[in-house]
Amino acid sequence: MEEKSKPSFYVTTPIYYVNDVPHIGHAYTTIIADALARYQRLSGRRVYFLTGTDEHGQKIERAAAEKGLKPKELADRVVVRFKELWRKLNISYDYFIRTTEDFHERGVQKIFKQLLDRGDIYKGTYQGWYCVSEENFLSEDVPLEAEGYKICPDCGRRATLLEEESYFFRLSAYQQPLLDFYAANPGFVRPQSRMNEVVSFVRQGLKDLSITRTSVRWGIPVPGDPGHTIYVWFDALHNYVTGAGYDWNQELFQTFWPADVHLIGKDILRFHAIFWPAFLMAAGFPLPRTVFGHGWWLKDETKMSKSKGNVLDPSLILEQVGPDALRYFLLREVPVGLDGSFSHEGFVQRINSDLANDLGNLVQRTLTMVLNYFDGEIPSPGEETEPDRQLAKRFAETASRVYAYYDDYALNRALEEIWVFLNLTNKYLADQEPWKIARQPEARNRLARILYQAVCAIRGSSYLIYPVMPETAEKIWNFIGEKAKPGQVSKSVLAFYDLAAGTRISKPEALFPRIDLREFIGEVEKPKAPSEIAPKPEVKMDYITYEEFKKMDLRVARVLAAERVPGTSKLLKLQIDLGTEKRQIVAGVADTYQPEELVGKEFIVIANLQPAVIRGVESQGMLLAAEVDGKATIPFFDRELPPGAKVK
Ligand code: MSP
Repeated sequence: MEEKSKPSFYVTTPIYYVNDVPHIGHAYTTIIADALARYQRLSGRRVYFLTGTDEHGQKIERAAAEKGLKPKELADRVVVRFKELWRKLNISYDYFIRTTEDFHERGVQKIFKQLLDRGDIYKGTYQGWYCVSEENFLSEDVPLEAEGYKICPDCGRRATLLEEESYFFRLSAYQQPLLDFYAANPGFVRPQSRMNEVVSFVRQGLKDLSITRTSVRWGIPVPGDPGHTIYVWFDALHNYVTGAGYDWNQELFQTFWPADVHLIGKDILRFHAIFWPAFLMAAGFPLPRTVFGHGWWLKDETKMSKSKGNVLDPSLILEQVGPDALRYFLLREVPVGLDGSFSHEGFVQRINSDLANDLGNLVQRTLTMVLNYFDGEIPSPGEETEPDRQLAKRFAETASRVYAYYDDYALNRALEEIWVFLNLTNKYLADQEPWKIARQPEARNRLARILYQAVCAIRGSSYLIYPVMPETAEKIWNFIGEKAKPGQVSKSVLAFYDLAAGTRISKPEALFPRIDLREFIGEVEKPKAPSEIAPKPEVKMDYITYEEFKKMDLRVARVLAAERVPGTSKLLKLQIDLGTEKRQIVAGVADTYQPEELVGKEFIVIANLQPAVIRGVESQGMLLAAEVDGKATIPFFDRELPPGAKVK
């Protein structure tokens, strides 16, 4: 089909704050978006997939100041980290928008000006409690604490009382239009439970919204009144239109706006389901079709937070298991919309059973038989029997159910269906016993048929898993000599028997080697470097200043007691003497040292590293060690020193 005449699909992720490096929650939203984008491309639609970063506002201004950086410098560094993670995860975004880009700033100012001219924005005075961390004024019903201040109900931090001249958006005027819109579009917010939450909030009444700040310098200036900057949420939400060509690429904007789906976490639902449509109504834009609020990922049933030290870093998991295992786990484990809990045990179990066994073994076994019995050529099939017909029929049913689930954003259901089919194929092979038939020369046609069927099943499934596991699908295509290229295969041509006999296959490598839980835990939870936002040198050496080095409090520590951390192979729990105090640290050195041999030894620790919980054990510092081939060697001193002595 002519590219231009294809139906379009526009999907977005939230744009991520740049005050911190990406974590598993950011990866989750972005992986969902990527799976949807890939599915839609596979279905022959013209897709636009937008992600990016939210770079203005007080939160970023403060985070940068704490690190002695300009806000834009911090943003530049963190953007590299996001892009690097998206590359490792095979995220196929079409554009990465940054709110500090000129065209975005101009677009936001233009819309602001239009709303001002139309009277939807007006100037007044605002007094209220503002939470810097959430970039949000607290709602008025949050009670005053006895000490005379308010606590932000979302993050638990103390809010600041602000009174300032401010521009307001006339949100109150949109209460009824919003309610009418929700009534006419009951699928606007999904899942349904979230729609109900939004409607009842709007029914309680909407107040006008302060959308500028005089107290924040790091933001887009209000056109014609540069003492004010535009509130970061008004700025950020408009990325969905500026990033799709508004005011700079008419053709792009015409093709893709309104968005088909904004994927967001449930915590930012009100901004997307109430403010955003109201802004759009005021500006006269059509409204997005769906806002999908997904749940939160917890770590072992508890919320992840920096202070608890239990934030999962997707890069560490990726290094061990590759992108597709992580993509599969996150999308398979919970229905989009509900909360999920990440546990290392659950992860390893799921990967070993679904990926290493059900899928990996099926591919390996089948292709090895084709290599051994048919010299690596897909055999020309013998006559079709009833079990063969059944398998083909079940594939057609599976495919249409899987498409319906993908269309409905029910990714976990799609994966469940595919796995039912893979296991049916495993059962088909177990029932047909090709390894026995191979010993009967007269049944060669039957053997050809069975293996042909199994390769058809693998090929068919590879297209169905492609949106979630693109790398694995491509590996399978390479193994079986499939010429298709992602994006050029329409699901309508995906017939079960569309496999040419005579094609040469190549020797398959294991798709998913089994993971060992103990090794996995040792790897994933190894102590991190002190500064998580260290710039990543791309080409040249990245120097730090002496001032930066001096921030590290390096001390001589003496080991008082040592024991293994139960359930891990690499970790030791050490009680250390730091001269003025005793501390506990966890160190990944058990591969090299027995606990007993460390007692009495002295080495260097970073004493001011933020404490972290590693495998449930608190670590209040980190020892220095060299790592060679995954084994740690500790540099000891050549004479005894007083514990606590400074190292510089
Ligand atoms: N900058 C705003 C969004 C502006 S969109 C116009 C923002 N950024 S964020 O970086 O704090 O969060 C981005 C997304 O990550 C949110 O959708 C949030 O719900 C999601 N997650 C953050 N932690 C999460 C988990 N632990 N689990 C799942 N998603 C979570 O908000």
